[in-house]
Amino acid sequence: MSQILLAGGAGFIGSHTAVELLDTGYEVIIADNLMNSSAKSITRIEQITGNQLKFYQLDIRDTEKLEALFQENDISTVIHFAGLKAVGESIGKPVMYYRNNIDTTLSLLECMNKYNVKNIIFSSSATVYGEENPVPYNEEMKKGSCTNPYGWTKAMMEQILEDTAKSDKSMSVIILRYFNPIGAHETGLIGEDPQGIPNNLMPCAAQTAIGIRDHLTIFGNDYDTPDGTCLRDYIHVTDLAKGHVKAVEYAQKNKGVEIFNLGTGNPYSVTEIVETFEKVNGVTVNHVYGPRRDGDLPNCYANADKAMKMLGWKTEKTLEDMCRDLWKWQQMNPNGYKD
Ligand code: NAD
Ligand code: UD1
Repeated sequence: MSQILLAGGAGFIGSHTAVELLDTGYEVIIADNLMNSSAKSITRIEQITGNQLKFYQLDIRDTEKLEALFQENDISTVIHFAGLKAVGESIGKPVMYYRNNIDTTLSLLECMNKYNVKNIIFSSSATVYGEENPVPYNEEMKKGSCTNPYGWTKAMMEQILEDTAKSDKSMSVIILRYFNPIGAHETGLIGEDPQGIPNNLMPCAAQTAIGIRDHLTIFGNDYDTPDGTCLRDYIHVTDLAKGHVKAVEYAQKNKGVEIFNLGTGNPYSVTEIVETFEKVNGVTVNHVYGPRRDGDLPNCYANADKAMKMLGWKTEKTLEDMCRDLWKWQQMNPNGYKD
């Protein structure tokens, strides 16, 4: 089967996608500068699958090295995960975010053009729906205004990809809008390894349960939602990864641009998921209620019908699975990939 390049593939979502692609029979090449990941994830992917992959430690923006990679291989499809993703950091360092996220996209597109690679799958985010659209979000809706530079990089990269596909009718561009990916591989061998203090809810909850952090602050319990805390569409990272395998199959058979939400369609509140984590794992997550966090929307969840209809993809894992697998990863790797 054909060779798939995972740009930024050593990270959280890329590593899980590599496992699913290898298990399906694809050849996998990962290019990553490890700025937010570890080479250990590569050996763990090989351990889980019993398959080898090719790893290039390089910055995607280094076009000389990227071209050498394209020359040495026969890539059919690129999956573009490479980017910075911390929302709060993007507000303080917008130029760094625009520079890295937009430049990686442009370098990949230039190389693809030069080496005649026609298929690209892009990691976008539900954040592009902005605050104007009502939930559940569907792909027909116009993009809204983002609350931070990270979100704007995603909206801009979607535009760049759409314009590129318009100019070259032989291309296939698949934009995947992720909702809230959490959990870890069921083996506990790969998972999310945040550097420093995690920004996202579930890594914070797991670090609190294991004692790395003293408590979790739940941001706001005065929203107009059933229990006052925000609602989100949490999706198991393995289900998300399987969505990429379906997207690869689709991209290889079709041309043009398609956008797909990857979510479960089921909203859960912050309190609900924290309580589920405690219950299924028999642990306590010390938590306090604090003020709202700037930029948070009360409610964000997907209409996931399009991915089901056109990709034949639907989620299989439950909220309990997500909590159980995250805890397994946290217990087996209390310091992430660090020794
Ligand atoms: P991650 O940080 O774990 O993975 C991204 C990888 O890209 C890292 O391994 C990092 O080292 C690499 N990278 C960044 N810039 C690079 C560069 N210039 N050259 C080479 N490698 C580079 O993040 P993730 O959670 O796996 O997310 C993957 C993609 O999905 C990102 O684009 C992210 O914005 C997007 N996304 C993530 C979420 C989420 O909740 N995790 C939600 C929506 C969208
Ligand atoms: C955020 C980003 C989104 C990005 C995603 C993955 C915003 C508005 N959205 O989504 O663009 O794609 O991360 O990186 O920033 N929470 C707490 N306490 C915590 C952390 C979070 O109560 O310590 C709450 C938040 O208020 C939110 C929910 O948990 O209601 C989920 O938060 P988080 O995991 O950060 O994801 P999002 O904010 O949904």
